[in-house]
Amino acid sequence: SSLQTLNTLRLQSQVPFLHSITSLNQLRDVLDHARALDLPVLPLGHGSNVVLCGDMQAMVLKIELSGRTVVGADAEAVTVRVAAGEDWHQLVLWSLAQGYYGLENLALIPGTVGAAPIQNIGAYGRELGSFVVAVRALRCSDGEMITLSREDCAFGYRDSIFKHALRDAVVITHVDLRLSRQPALEISYPGLQAELARSCYEQTPTPQTVCDAVVALRRAKLPNPALEPNAGSFFKNPVVARGKAEALRARYPYMPLYPLDTDTAKLAAAWLIEEAGWKGVRQHEVGVHPGHALVLVNYGADNGGVLLALARDIQAAVATRFDIALEIEPRLYGEPA
Ligand code: FAD
Ligand code: EPU
Repeated sequence: SSLQTLNTLRLQSQVPFLHSITSLNQLRDVLDHARALDLPVLPLGHGSNVVLCGDMQAMVLKIELSGRTVVGADAEAVTVRVAAGEDWHQLVLWSLAQGYYGLENLALIPGTVGAAPIQNIGAYGRELGSFVVAVRALRCSDGEMITLSREDCAFGYRDSIFKHALRDAVVITHVDLRLSRQPALEISYPGLQAELARSCYEQTPTPQTVCDAVVALRRAKLPNPALEPNAGSFFKNPVVARGKAEALRARYPYMPLYPLDTDTAKLAAAWLIEEAGWKGVRQHEVGVHPGHALVLVNYGADNGGVLLALARDIQAAVATRFDIALEIEPRLYGEPA
């Protein structure tokens, strides 16, 4: 089967098995089958954070488990159990309509609920991890259900245990999120306040107006994968020693710099790439988006190899110019040696 229509970069990859998963029993059966064949399992949501670099010997499971249930409630908050195949943005809209607040800053992030814990999705000052009560998953080695607490998940910036100790070891089936019954807005992200001021004038912001402002900002900044195939940010924003950040700032007074603690600061990878001269550059049917330097676009390539070659050129240029190593954000599969 071909995965070309199942990833937002529209890259070609053939796999021997592709199953769409709609129930836990079926998932257990398929995991048994993969074990019997000694094939690795590759869970796939909406394919918005993968770079496929060729054919793979794997059993791909398109996760389509559905359902949202309130499993707990107190005066302040509700706990909602959401199945892995639910669309993330639809969950955000639904939660706001129910009067369950907190996810508004994470509106319009593509993908499924089950993939959200993998890289701890984040945007506009909020991260998924702060809402997670538990993640439930089936273990690939024996099909047993395991439950991880928020602490177990070891969430960090674009990071979790699912990228380390549990990498390729589980299929997430449900995520339990604790959402507030009272609005508690987070609007400190640069640009968000300005967009709110523009869109709702002097009115007090609400979760819904924050959601609308985030949607407007994202539509203005990020290319739509349906029109310009991409995987969002191609690199993580680098976290560097404070001294190094300050030294760069002295050389480039306009460089964005976000202090994290006394020792470290986060830099904007998009700024580094643009300053290194790569914004808008095209090579071999792939390129750096002219509107946002952190987004690589596939203009017609089938194989992810050319995209990786572009990424390597950008990494080399940023390393030479700033002595900073950019780390690729999406998950690479079938990477050429
Ligand atoms: P997929 O791409 O299908 O899978 C990603 C990885 O998760 C793969 O390794 C896959 O095997 C694994 N996986 C998927 N489902 C499961 C499961 N049920 N169990 C175990 N493993 C699983 N991300 C942000 O954090 N913030 C943003 O603001 C943001 N903006 C984006 C904008 C655009 C235009 C695009 C294209 C992407 C953006 N992303 C952003 C990245 C992407 O939205 C997230 O990484 C999202 O969580 C991916 O969901 P998905 O269902 O498409 O995952
Ligand atoms: N900038 C440039 N040139 C550009 C684009 C941006 O210099 O071409 C500068 C901006 O002026 C700004 C800074 O870079 O000072 C940061 O830009 P932006 O606010 O667009 O955010 P980002 O750091 O590029 C991160 C996340 C996004 C998330 C936004 C909003 C990462 C790797 N990316 O992008 O997540 O939506 O913040 O919170 O952390 C994703 O992970 O796929 C993703 C899109």
